[in-house]
Amino acid sequence: MADALLTLDKVTAGYGDAVVLHGISLTLPENGSLALLGRNGVGKSTLLLTIMGYTQMRGGRVAWRGEDVSRVAPHKRATRGIGWVAQEREIFPSLTVEENLTVAARAGTWDLPAIYKLFPRLDERRRNMGNQLSGGEQQMLAIARALMTNPALLLLDEPFEGLAPVIVDELIHAMKLLLSDRRVAIILVEQHTDIALELTADAIVLERGTVAHAAPSATLAKDTATLERLVGLRVAATP
Ligand SMILES: Nc1ncnc2c1ncn2[C@@H]1O[C@H](COP(=O)(O)OP(=O)(O)OP(=O)(O)O)[C@@H](O)[C@H]1O
Ligand SMILES: [Mg+2]
Repeated sequence: MADALLTLDKVTAGYGDAVVLHGISLTLPENGSLALLGRNGVGKSTLLLTIMGYTQMRGGRVAWRGEDVSRVAPHKRATRGIGWVAQEREIFPSLTVEENLTVAARAGTWDLPAIYKLFPRLDERRRNMGNQLSGGEQQMLAIARALMTNPALLLLDEPFEGLAPVIVDELIHAMKLLLSDRRVAIILVEQHTDIALELTADAIVLERGTVAHAAPSATLAKDTATLERLVGLRVAATP
């Protein structure tokens, strides 16, 4: 069997002396999609940070295409194809949309035309400065910037958080295109459980830094008892 894109094997990690993740195991195939669910503070962002290499590993291993990258520095993981969109959208406020995209560019199938096709709104705003964008447009730009690095895996931390419903719909549409296109694997941290499960193939639910539940997203979407117990029911992005 071909190596998975990403494998976490009993990963224990945290910040300094504070251990947040306890023995997390998961596997993501090439072009796979995984929803990462759970209540506030259970370690979702920490898990993404650990995949990027920003936390202290205390045990276990992170493997990328079969190779142990547990000790590989974050920027080198990025070069190997892990793209990360932080919970705080990181864009350059004094560069235009197009400049923000081109400074991030690395060779591959994601180039300006492909990005503008996925996000027509960024095409319309290509000459606007980063600081002249709405929150939703900034989020689109943050995702687009990550795609311009042509990653094999995109880590998204609550991309819909705090956005107006109309732009959430636009982003969801773009995410569906992105996922159906199957050129990139995605791990999506999302408080809107129904959206996350609709978008992804598989899901895990964290509780206090451990994997409390793992299932195909379609199965978990129907499992209201588990969702109520581990996530608390949340309605879609209505105001
Ligand atoms: N830089 C840090 N240093 C020390 N502890 C941290 C740090 N960042 C987060 N933590 C702690 O790690 C735990 C998990 O936090 P994390 O941000 O991963 O949760 P989360 O599931 O992403 O929560 P949310 O849904 O609120 O975004 C929390 O107890 C938090 O206080
Ligand atoms: Mg978080």
